[in-house]
Amino acid sequence: MVRNPKGMRDILPPETFKWRRLEILLSKAALLYGYGEIRTPILEFSELFRKGLGDESDVALKEMYEFEDKNGDVLSLRPEGTAPVARAVIQHHLYDTPVLRLFYTGPMFRRERPQAGRYRQFHQFGIEAFGVSEPYMDIEVLLIVKRIFSLLNLPLTIHINSLGCDECRPIYMEQLRNFVLSAIPEDEEIERFKKNPLKLFDSKRPEHAEIKAEAPKISEYLCPACKDHYAHVIRAAKLFGVPIVEDPQLARGFDYYTRTVFEGYVGEFNLAVVGGGRYDHLVSFYGGPDVPGIGFAIGLERLITSLEEVPIIDPEPKKTYFLATTGEDMIEPAFQLAEKLRDHGIGIIMDLRQGKLQKQLKLANKAEVRYVLILGEEEQRNHVITLRDMVTGEQRIVAQEAVLDE
Ligand code: HAM
Repeated sequence: MVRNPKGMRDILPPETFKWRRLEILLSKAALLYGYGEIRTPILEFSELFRKGLGDESDVALKEMYEFEDKNGDVLSLRPEGTAPVARAVIQHHLYDTPVLRLFYTGPMFRRERPQAGRYRQFHQFGIEAFGVSEPYMDIEVLLIVKRIFSLLNLPLTIHINSLGCDECRPIYMEQLRNFVLSAIPEDEEIERFKKNPLKLFDSKRPEHAEIKAEAPKISEYLCPACKDHYAHVIRAAKLFGVPIVEDPQLARGFDYYTRTVFEGYVGEFNLAVVGGGRYDHLVSFYGGPDVPGIGFAIGLERLITSLEEVPIIDPEPKKTYFLATTGEDMIEPAFQLAEKLRDHGIGIIMDLRQGKLQKQLKLANKAEVRYVLILGEEEQRNHVITLRDMVTGEQRIVAQEAVLDE
């Protein structure tokens, strides 16, 4: 009898109806924040993943579907989407748009041991944002996660941590390595921990629980810049109601991460439904310019098992504005307003690099958005906003609520 390979499922009707609705809902969430869809090949050169995810990552070590093509190229079925997107950003010079937002949906492949919630072909929806090192991009990304789970009515908890940067992480790693070597008896696993001591935190062995709890914490080693960044993200995430818990043991599995990392869980389900974080050096590591990045991916199989129904929603925003700010400290009120407008199906794109108005308007032009909303202190005080037509240059003041009916 013929049958499918292990860990690779057929998705049949009526379940496919649920998938279709889910994909629409997810892409709508990304569109509300100005993300554009990218589709990359299922196959890439293996090197891309080996180098980007790290030779010692579980995925690169043992989970890739890798083969030699007839011409000798070594290719892999993609195990994840961040590396291919970074590759495409470099190859097509997409970084010419200084704040670049992309999303994707599609199958990924990892040769893991199949079990509940763990497949060899699974699907991810992911977003990747490039060009902004400020913590506000971390907040935007977390707000997208929050929006998706509230649209789906799923109770979400996001574990969050900072992995530091090239300055502070090596010092921490050295301390952690020394600690691990002294705390864990020599056995076959010690080699693994020696190479990457962060793997201690992934260990499920009961005898490691206490060792994990006593291990040095990265938060005690962060440099002032990373500490600041992290504190900012935590404060703003709480302010905007992102359901976070700080988790000093969260390490994530790939080498490309820097600073903020997070994983999201739904209810009692003990596998992460979403994982993500910053990767400020991945683009330059691949030979591109020095462009920071941050993103996440949701595992759709893990999401769909928690869902009885998926709401049917309009596939696209009603319209999309660029929201610019003038003056100090307007970014948080702007975030509040943007979230409200998005709740009503209006797409809002923001710069988030906190530059001058002219710089923001240049980005609005690049994004080909016709109408820009400008929020300054004066406007905020009077609950109004300046609405600028980028084609005619005309500007008028409207009530903030009136934007909904424009
Ligand atoms: P990841 O944590 O490896 O991150 O995967 C993200 C999500 O994909 C997981 O939380 C899980 O829901 C799902 N997933 C992973 N492996 C499997 C599997 N074998 N079966 C079913 N679902 C699975 C990444 O892939 C990063 N690229 C995320 C990211 C984007 N970081 C920055 N930008």
